[in-house]
Amino acid sequence: MKAVQLTSLDGPDAVALADIQAGPLGARQVRIRVEAAGLNFADLLMMDGSYQATPPTPFTMGMEAAGTVLEVDSAADGVFPGDRVLAHVSSGAFAEELVTGDANCFVIPHAMPFDAAAAFPIAYGTAHLGLSHRGRLKEGEVLMVHGAAGGVGLTAVQVGKAMGATVVATAGGGEKLEVARRAGADHLIDYRSESIRDRVKELVGGVDVVFDPVGGDAFKQSLRCINPEGRILVIGFAGGEVPQIPANILLVKNVDVIGFYWGAYAALDRETFRRSMEDLLRMYEDGKLTPHIGGRFPFSGARDAFDLLKSRKAAGKIVLTPS
Ligand SMILES: NC(=O)c1ccc[n+]([C@@H]2O[C@H](COP(=O)([O-])OP(=O)(O)OC[C@H]3O[C@@H](n4cnc5c(N)ncnc54)[C@H](OP(=O)(O)O)[C@@H]3O)[C@@H](O)[C@H]2O)c1
Repeated sequence: MKAVQLTSLDGPDAVALADIQAGPLGARQVRIRVEAAGLNFADLLMMDGSYQATPPTPFTMGMEAAGTVLEVDSAADGVFPGDRVLAHVSSGAFAEELVTGDANCFVIPHAMPFDAAAAFPIAYGTAHLGLSHRGRLKEGEVLMVHGAAGGVGLTAVQVGKAMGATVVATAGGGEKLEVARRAGADHLIDYRSESIRDRVKELVGGVDVVFDPVGGDAFKQSLRCINPEGRILVIGFAGGEVPQIPANILLVKNVDVIGFYWGAYAALDRETFRRSMEDLLRMYEDGKLTPHIGGRFPFSGARDAFDLLKSRKAAGKIVLTPS
């Protein structure tokens, strides 16, 4: 079968379309015919080994996919041949077939397209579990989302609105902010030309929760406009700079800075993790969430897809399809 592999830790040039054997089915495992798979920033980080969970090379890339279940092990639970599912994995999603544990699969609503389902688990999962479980976001609070037109940022805007927050979106440039506005953002800040702190003060006075996948200056400015008892969720460092935290500000303002790694929750608290994904799929069925696909490429165009992700030009999620 065809698979997009990373052959060494030498950047995008090491991404190659390969012909590989489909894996055997182990205990409680499920074989999925992949119809679409989602790209993530972590795929870029893996290319030079800077992602915390980069597998040894060569390996088949891809951390999320959607498709149809072809076969299941006799001990597999809750998933049956013919089911339409989404799945999250540590690697292996950019292949015509994906073998994974039953616990990594979720049956998707009948009307959910495969590309929307492939773009769903990591971004929406991170936004929902982050904001609800770790960030304790409450109805009526003010949420600020950085990188608000990016993969996880845009889902945090939608999930924040669905949870009843007022959402302040920050992004680089008018086009991206327009995407965030259409996703439900109440206030927009262009961090290329405006001071986050000054605009927050003008627009809403201060923010209660910050969802930060960018880091660097966006994080520093968050500390300067967070309300007392506010929570800053550390989601990622797409801007490249890992922020250093002045503990005196946390003390004086009674502020929490909270790290959150969604992937770890599958093992850390399986029940909460599962409930979050089920809630999200219900919210999708109720029309509260609309995945935004910013680019579609065949497996053979994987390098172009990564170039687009790296360029910062796409909004929402980019998906790959086998053909
Ligand atoms: N903690 C978790 O469990 C978890 C889960 C998923 C993702 N993440 C992390 O969250 C971050 C974003 O992931 P993503 O999938 O949303 O990526 P993405 O789709 O590429 O979005 C990243 C956003 O960050 C902004 N950005 C600012 N400076 C940037 C730079 N120098 N290069 C690229 N983008 C820059 C961009 O928006 P502007 O152009 O508008 O600035 C872009 O839209 C990554 O660090 C990723 O590892 C963490």
